[in-house]
Amino acid sequence: MSALFFKRFLQRPFQVASIIPSSKALVKKVARKMDFSQPRVIAEYGPGEGVHSREIARRMSPDSQLLLFELDGAFSRDLQRQFADDPRVHVINGDAAKLPEELKQRGIPRCDYILSGIPFSILPIAKKRALLEKTYEALGDGGRFIIYQVTNELRQHATLFDQADSQYVLQNIPPMFITVFHKIHRQNGHKRPVRPAAAVLNGSNHHPA
Ligand SMILES: C[S@@+](CC[C@H](N)C(=O)[O-])C[C@H]1O[C@@H](n2cnc3c(N)ncnc32)[C@H](O)[C@@H]1O
Repeated sequence: MSALFFKRFLQRPFQVASIIPSSKALVKKVARKMDFSQPRVIAEYGPGEGVHSREIARRMSPDSQLLLFELDGAFSRDLQRQFADDPRVHVINGDAAKLPEELKQRGIPRCDYILSGIPFSILPIAKKRALLEKTYEALGDGGRFIIYQVTNELRQHATLFDQADSQYVLQNIPPMFITVFHKIHRQNGHKRPVRPAAAVLNGSNHHPA
Protein backbone atom coordinates (compact mmCIF):
# COMPACT_ATOMS: atom_id res chain seq x y z
CA MET A 1 0.00 0.00 0.00
CA SER A 2 1.27 3.52 -0.77
CA ALA A 3 1.99 5.30 2.55
CA LEU A 4 1.66 8.71 0.88
CA PHE A 5 -1.74 7.74 -0.53
CA PHE A 6 -3.09 6.62 2.85
CA LYS A 7 -1.73 9.77 4.54
CA ARG A 8 -3.38 12.05 1.97
CA PHE A 9 -6.65 10.11 2.36
CA LEU A 10 -6.57 10.71 6.13
CA GLN A 11 -5.90 14.41 5.50
CA ARG A 12 -8.60 14.92 2.82
CA PRO A 13 -10.96 11.92 2.71
CA PHE A 14 -13.58 13.48 0.41
CA GLN A 15 -11.07 14.81 -2.10
CA VAL A 16 -8.89 11.69 -2.26
CA ALA A 17 -11.91 9.37 -1.82
CA SER A 18 -9.95 6.10 -1.74
CA ILE A 19 -7.48 4.58 0.72
CA ILE A 20 -5.34 2.82 -1.87
CA PRO A 21 -4.29 3.58 -5.46
CA SER A 22 -5.84 1.82 -8.48
CA SER A 23 -4.79 -1.82 -8.94
CA LYS A 24 -2.40 -2.98 -11.69
CA ALA A 25 -5.32 -4.70 -13.43
CA LEU A 26 -7.41 -1.50 -13.50
CA VAL A 27 -4.43 0.54 -14.71
CA LYS A 28 -3.79 -1.87 -17.60
CA LYS A 29 -7.47 -1.99 -18.61
CA VAL A 30 -7.63 1.83 -18.62
CA ALA A 31 -4.43 2.17 -20.67
CA ARG A 32 -5.81 -0.32 -23.24
CA LYS A 33 -8.65 2.12 -23.99
CA MET A 34 -6.07 4.45 -25.56
CA ASP A 35 -4.32 4.07 -28.90
CA PHE A 36 -0.66 4.98 -28.47
CA SER A 37 0.35 4.31 -32.09
CA GLN A 38 0.42 8.07 -32.78
CA PRO A 39 1.59 11.15 -30.83
CA ARG A 40 -1.11 12.02 -28.30
CA VAL A 41 -2.12 14.87 -26.02
CA ILE A 42 -3.50 13.36 -22.83
CA ALA A 43 -4.81 15.11 -19.73
CA GLU A 44 -5.33 13.33 -16.43
CA TYR A 45 -7.57 14.63 -13.64
CA GLY A 46 -6.59 13.49 -10.12
CA PRO A 47 -3.48 11.36 -10.79
CA GLY A 48 -2.83 10.95 -7.03
CA GLU A 49 0.53 9.26 -6.63
CA GLY A 50 0.68 8.60 -10.39
CA VAL A 51 -0.18 4.95 -10.91
CA HIS A 52 -2.02 5.63 -14.23
CA SER A 53 0.35 8.45 -15.23
CA ARG A 54 3.39 6.16 -15.10
CA GLU A 55 1.69 3.56 -17.32
CA ILE A 56 0.59 6.22 -19.83
CA ALA A 57 4.07 7.81 -19.90
CA ARG A 58 5.59 4.35 -20.42
CA ARG A 59 3.34 3.71 -23.44
CA MET A 60 3.19 7.11 -25.13
CA SER A 61 5.51 8.24 -27.94
CA PRO A 62 8.40 10.72 -27.42
CA ASP A 63 6.40 13.54 -29.03
CA SER A 64 3.27 13.00 -26.92
CA GLN A 65 2.31 15.21 -23.99
CA LEU A 66 0.70 14.35 -20.66
CA LEU A 67 -0.85 17.07 -18.47
CA LEU A 68 -1.48 16.04 -14.87
CA PHE A 69 -4.02 18.06 -12.82
CA GLU A 70 -3.73 17.29 -9.11
CA LEU A 71 -5.33 19.41 -6.37
CA ASP A 72 -3.27 17.97 -3.55
CA GLY A 73 0.10 19.70 -2.93
CA ALA A 74 1.89 16.64 -1.52
CA PHE A 75 0.85 14.42 -4.46
CA SER A 76 1.84 17.18 -6.90
CA ARG A 77 5.32 17.52 -5.40
CA ASP A 78 5.75 13.76 -5.57
CA LEU A 79 4.65 13.72 -9.23
CA GLN A 80 7.09 16.58 -10.04
CA ARG A 81 9.85 14.48 -8.54
CA GLN A 82 8.84 11.32 -10.42
CA PHE A 83 8.63 13.05 -13.81
CA ALA A 84 11.46 15.58 -13.33
CA ASP A 85 13.44 14.00 -16.20
CA ASP A 86 10.49 13.60 -18.58
CA PRO A 87 9.80 16.78 -20.61
CA ARG A 88 6.58 15.24 -22.02
CA VAL A 89 4.88 15.35 -18.60
CA HIS A 90 3.56 18.59 -17.04
CA VAL A 91 2.33 18.58 -13.45
CA ILE A 92 -0.26 21.24 -12.62
CA ASN A 93 -1.00 21.60 -8.91
CA GLY A 94 -4.58 22.78 -9.37
CA ASP A 95 -8.17 21.97 -10.17
CA ALA A 96 -9.01 19.90 -13.25
CA ALA A 97 -11.30 22.78 -14.24
CA LYS A 98 -8.12 24.72 -15.20
CA LEU A 99 -7.67 22.50 -18.27
CA PRO A 100 -8.85 25.07 -20.89
CA GLU A 101 -6.50 27.81 -19.56
CA GLU A 102 -3.57 25.39 -19.39
CA LEU A 103 -4.13 24.21 -22.97
CA LYS A 104 -4.36 27.82 -24.18
CA GLN A 105 -1.18 28.86 -22.34
CA ARG A 106 0.72 25.98 -23.88
CA GLY A 107 -0.68 26.54 -27.40
CA ILE A 108 -2.30 23.09 -27.43
CA PRO A 109 -5.59 23.15 -29.41
CA ARG A 110 -7.25 19.95 -28.13
CA CYS A 111 -6.69 16.69 -26.23
CA ASP A 112 -6.99 13.19 -27.67
CA TYR A 113 -7.78 11.60 -24.31
CA ILE A 114 -8.84 12.91 -20.93
CA LEU A 115 -8.62 10.44 -18.07
CA SER A 116 -10.33 11.15 -14.76
CA GLY A 117 -9.86 9.58 -11.34
CA ILE A 118 -11.49 12.39 -9.37
CA PRO A 119 -14.55 11.57 -7.25
CA PHE A 120 -17.09 12.97 -9.73
CA SER A 121 -20.03 11.40 -7.90
CA ILE A 122 -19.60 13.67 -4.87
CA LEU A 123 -19.10 16.91 -6.83
CA PRO A 124 -21.94 19.42 -6.51
CA ILE A 125 -24.12 19.19 -9.63
CA ALA A 126 -23.20 22.65 -11.01
CA LYS A 127 -19.46 21.88 -10.72
CA LYS A 128 -19.97 18.43 -12.25
CA ARG A 129 -21.81 19.87 -15.28
CA ALA A 130 -19.29 22.70 -15.73
CA LEU A 131 -16.38 20.24 -15.68
CA LEU A 132 -18.13 17.90 -18.13
CA GLU A 133 -18.66 20.83 -20.53
CA LYS A 134 -15.03 21.93 -20.28
CA THR A 135 -13.92 18.34 -20.82
CA TYR A 136 -16.09 17.92 -23.92
CA GLU A 137 -14.87 21.25 -25.38
CA ALA A 138 -11.22 20.36 -24.71
CA LEU A 139 -11.42 17.11 -26.70
CA GLY A 140 -10.76 17.00 -30.42
CA ASP A 141 -13.20 15.24 -32.77
CA GLY A 142 -12.93 11.52 -32.09
CA GLY A 143 -11.50 12.25 -28.62
CA ARG A 144 -12.39 10.18 -25.60
CA PHE A 145 -13.09 10.95 -21.96
CA ILE A 146 -12.27 7.94 -19.78
CA ILE A 147 -13.33 7.61 -16.16
CA TYR A 148 -13.05 4.92 -13.50
CA GLN A 149 -15.61 5.15 -10.71
CA VAL A 150 -17.32 3.00 -8.08
CA THR A 151 -20.72 3.91 -9.50
CA ASN A 152 -21.68 4.59 -13.09
CA GLU A 153 -23.77 7.64 -12.17
CA LEU A 154 -21.83 10.00 -14.47
CA ARG A 155 -23.47 8.39 -17.53
CA GLN A 156 -26.73 10.15 -16.71
CA HIS A 157 -24.98 13.56 -16.57
CA ALA A 158 -22.53 13.19 -19.47
CA THR A 159 -25.25 13.57 -22.11
CA LEU A 160 -23.08 15.91 -24.21
CA PHE A 161 -21.11 12.92 -25.35
CA ASP A 162 -22.31 10.91 -28.34
CA GLN A 163 -21.64 7.40 -27.07
CA ALA A 164 -20.54 5.65 -23.87
CA ASP A 165 -19.13 2.16 -23.26
CA SER A 166 -18.73 0.68 -19.79
CA GLN A 167 -16.77 -2.21 -18.38
CA TYR A 168 -16.99 -3.46 -14.79
CA VAL A 169 -13.60 -4.34 -13.28
CA LEU A 170 -13.67 -6.68 -10.29
CA GLN A 171 -9.88 -6.76 -9.85
CA ASN A 172 -9.72 -3.52 -7.88
CA ILE A 173 -10.56 -2.53 -4.30
CA PRO A 174 -13.32 -1.50 -4.56
CA PRO A 175 -14.50 -2.82 -7.99
CA MET A 176 -14.89 -0.04 -10.53
CA PHE A 177 -16.70 0.87 -13.73
CA ILE A 178 -14.46 2.11 -16.50
CA THR A 179 -16.54 4.23 -18.86
CA VAL A 180 -15.33 5.65 -22.16
CA PHE A 181 -17.30 8.67 -23.43
CA HIS A 182 -16.83 9.37 -27.14
CA LYS A 183 -16.86 12.69 -28.94
CA ILE A 184 -18.01 12.07 -32.51
CA HIS A 185 -15.85 12.74 -35.58
CA ARG A 186 -17.41 15.43 -37.72
CA GLN A 187 -16.86 15.09 -41.45
CA ASN A 188 -18.29 17.81 -43.72
CA GLY A 189 -20.54 18.88 -40.88
CA HIS A 190 -22.11 15.40 -40.52
CA LYS A 191 -21.85 13.29 -37.42
CA ARG A 192 -20.18 9.93 -37.90
CA PRO A 193 -20.07 7.60 -34.91
CA VAL A 194 -16.54 6.74 -33.85
CA ARG A 195 -15.60 3.07 -33.88
CA PRO A 196 -15.67 1.92 -30.24
CA ALA A 197 -12.21 0.99 -28.96
CA ALA A 198 -11.51 -2.69 -29.63
CA ALA A 199 -10.44 -3.13 -26.01
CA VAL A 200 -13.78 -1.76 -24.82
CA LEU A 201 -15.70 -4.35 -26.78
CA ASN A 202 -13.32 -7.14 -25.94
CA GLY A 203 -14.89 -9.16 -23.14
CA SER A 204 -16.85 -6.26 -21.72
CA ASN A 205 -20.36 -4.87 -21.62
CA HIS A 206 -21.16 -2.61 -24.54
CA HIS A 207 -23.93 -0.16 -23.85
CA PRO A 208 -24.42 2.48 -26.52
CA ALA A 209 -25.76 5.50 -24.64
C1 LIG B 1 -9.48 8.36 -5.90
S1 LIG B 1 -7.99 9.32 -5.98
C2 LIG B 1 -7.32 8.61 -7.49
C3 LIG B 1 -5.83 8.59 -7.51
C4 LIG B 1 -5.19 7.83 -8.67
N1 LIG B 1 -5.62 8.34 -9.95
C5 LIG B 1 -5.44 6.33 -8.60
O1 LIG B 1 -6.11 5.79 -9.49
O2 LIG B 1 -4.95 5.68 -7.69
C6 LIG B 1 -8.58 10.93 -6.48
C7 LIG B 1 -7.50 12.00 -6.71
O3 LIG B 1 -8.12 13.13 -7.32
C8 LIG B 1 -7.63 14.34 -6.75
N2 LIG B 1 -8.66 15.37 -6.99
C9 LIG B 1 -9.92 15.43 -6.45
N3 LIG B 1 -10.61 16.45 -6.97
C10 LIG B 1 -9.80 17.04 -7.91
C11 LIG B 1 -9.95 18.13 -8.82
N4 LIG B 1 -11.09 18.83 -8.89
N5 LIG B 1 -8.92 18.45 -9.64
C12 LIG B 1 -7.74 17.75 -9.58
N6 LIG B 1 -7.54 16.70 -8.74
C13 LIG B 1 -8.54 16.35 -7.92
C14 LIG B 1 -7.40 13.94 -5.30
O4 LIG B 1 -6.51 14.82 -4.65
C15 LIG B 1 -6.84 12.53 -5.45
O5 LIG B 1 -5.45 12.54 -5.67
